[in-house]
Amino acid sequence: MNNRISLLKKVLAAILVASCYNTASTATEIDLIPKPIRMEQTSGKFQLTPQATIGFDTELRDQAEYLQQVISQSTGWDLELKENTRKASIQLLLNPEEVDKPEGYLLTVTPKGVTVTGEDKGGVFYGIQTLLQLFPSEIYSDRRQRHVEWTAPAVTIYDAPNRPWRGMMLDVARYFYDKEFVKKYIDMMAMYKLNKLQFHLIDDSGWRLEIKKYPRLTEVGAWAGPDYNRLGGFYTQEDIKELIAYAEVRNVEIIPEIEFPAHILSAIVAYPWLSCTGLQHEVPTQHFISKDLLCVGKESSIQFLRDVLEETAELFPSSYINIGGDEANYTRWESCPYCQAVIKREGLKEASELQGYLTNLVAEMMKEKNRTVVGWEEIFLRGEIKTPVVGLIWHNVGDTILATRAGHKAILIPATHMYFDFPESQTPGEVKAATWMPPISLEKCYSMEINDYSEESTVIGVQGCFWSDQFIHGNVLQEIDYLNENRSENYAEYFTFPRLLALSEIAWTSQTARNYPDFYQRLSGHYSRLDFKGCHYRVPEPRIERMESTPSGKLKFTLSSPVAGAEIRYTTDGSYPSIHSPIYTAPVEVNDKSDFHAITVVTPRHYSLPIYFAPDYSAYQQYGNYTAEWKPLIVQSQMAPWKFECTGKIAGNGNYTIAFIPTKGESSLKLGKLKLYKRDELLVETAQSSTDEANPAITTYRFTVNDFDAGTPFFIEVEACGENGNDTSGLVFILKEAQ
Ligand code: ACM
Ligand code: ZN
Repeated sequence: MNNRISLLKKVLAAILVASCYNTASTATEIDLIPKPIRMEQTSGKFQLTPQATIGFDTELRDQAEYLQQVISQSTGWDLELKENTRKASIQLLLNPEEVDKPEGYLLTVTPKGVTVTGEDKGGVFYGIQTLLQLFPSEIYSDRRQRHVEWTAPAVTIYDAPNRPWRGMMLDVARYFYDKEFVKKYIDMMAMYKLNKLQFHLIDDSGWRLEIKKYPRLTEVGAWAGPDYNRLGGFYTQEDIKELIAYAEVRNVEIIPEIEFPAHILSAIVAYPWLSCTGLQHEVPTQHFISKDLLCVGKESSIQFLRDVLEETAELFPSSYINIGGDEANYTRWESCPYCQAVIKREGLKEASELQGYLTNLVAEMMKEKNRTVVGWEEIFLRGEIKTPVVGLIWHNVGDTILATRAGHKAILIPATHMYFDFPESQTPGEVKAATWMPPISLEKCYSMEINDYSEESTVIGVQGCFWSDQFIHGNVLQEIDYLNENRSENYAEYFTFPRLLALSEIAWTSQTARNYPDFYQRLSGHYSRLDFKGCHYRVPEPRIERMESTPSGKLKFTLSSPVAGAEIRYTTDGSYPSIHSPIYTAPVEVNDKSDFHAITVVTPRHYSLPIYFAPDYSAYQQYGNYTAEWKPLIVQSQMAPWKFECTGKIAGNGNYTIAFIPTKGESSLKLGKLKLYKRDELLVETAQSSTDEANPAITTYRFTVNDFDAGTPFFIEVEACGENGNDTSGLVFILKEAQ
């Protein structure tokens, strides 16, 4: 062992026994996300100067050039690169003996210099990311920042990921994000040490990958709407190569997702013979889950799949190929003579097993190319799959056990915690997007537990998921002023951040080392890093530190800003606060909590929703979910249609009861015919109302939904007017009956 290694081993041993991460004394200075395994702050700081140099082991040229470029953009200094030297101020080294965990690194910062030692290139890249987090936030800017003291506190950090798969899915099929945005998304993932991008390239609404053998996939399948208003786009194979190279430097593996047998209407539009019926369709301009599947019975469609997967595997170096596999409705296969013939030939019992048959076929084919098949959990739930696959557990975390028993591996991506297309809150004004489940607050996201659900761990990682299906219709995704100028991309960032930082820590840091209050505190300084990256995010509401009753019967609020350096503005008269409302400087007293509103203001164009106290509807629990309310202002004198949204309250097929509950007023609401719409499609029409047994003033309607689609907006339209004038107020609730 040479002297240098022996010294480093001693340092490492010292850190092992030293107290670990000490947020209390260092929180304002060091706020790393994800939290490293071990960190010791030493004395002094490293000062970056224009004379600093970057030394690197030959294999680390890409990482050295990356660091050089980041520093150059923000400081304006082009640091000299020095290959194979031990005399540089910032030293990048590869040493798998010293750091023995994949993607692990040892970072030492002293007043004399910086050393990043990695187990592999990924480890060195992550050491660089940690180093960047030690510098002022301005280091992330792509424009020169002046008057900044470019220092990093002296520390020794040993770090490595807890799980090898730390992923994010980006749905570029429902909404086409251009190459530059995808690069930015990869860059943001890399900043927070995520290493797998599931590239959702195919869906009903668009085919985004150039396949040379089938040019109509992108000539036709990548575009929706009439010529004058065409929407869509695709990546050429050259674009893909550029993205792969960009991601590789950042230790991100791009895993292409070729969806089948469902979610493939865009291909069927281009080549109608791919489906069982052969009928011509159009690429939808609205969110839509097609019932048309790839026909398993026609040799031509199987050959198509082979050709597409072959070209995809040649293009992407990833050791994984994602085959989608979610949400197939098997009715087409049930009535297709070609598919039925395969069922008979293979001795299968039902049409759903054809999916298992297809998965086996493809998994075997990919194995010959040294690739492992990944897919949504359905891929291992439709019959015995003989080749080991990796299942993305999105629906039922308990299915992890089934994956383990069958010899497969699992990645946790539960919709309850990891679907970033759900809003963070139900605060009025919140961007709604997906509504088929409750909101996922930052805290809820962070609370996701990684439970292996079995003795032998087969959970290789965690992934976040960003669906774009809501981005192709404006009636659900409402405008937010400060996001307007480049709507979809900014919305994508609004949904992704800051929850991606929670994902980062869930995936990287061991569960026992995670702690939400500590994370929340460290997060405060990261918003300015996102700002310098030019990345939008959801500004969190002011934090209520205390809410106390005063002796004079008032309520006293003590607040803190969740974003370092941001202001809080507030009102006490029930009005909506603006960026010109009074600045919060000391605890505020109000008569009633509904009088109090406060917002976090980062900049005049970037501020939060107000603190919101949801009304207490617990007295109406038996009527289900609050859906709408009526007030005198909207009550008409003649029977007229009253339409309101009930997306999210209609949550699957089944029986529902809608209740109209009067709460106030001399008059009452007279009700007539009720209609339920799925977007513009009339699903239910009923004139048959009843009165509630417990309370005859309550009017109810019962109806059945047979054609539910997740992600599609639902509306109720009911004829209504005031019985004796408009002095009536009330609430509408919807209850889904247990099945
Ligand atoms: C999915 O959300 N359909 C995987
Ligand atoms: Zn068929």
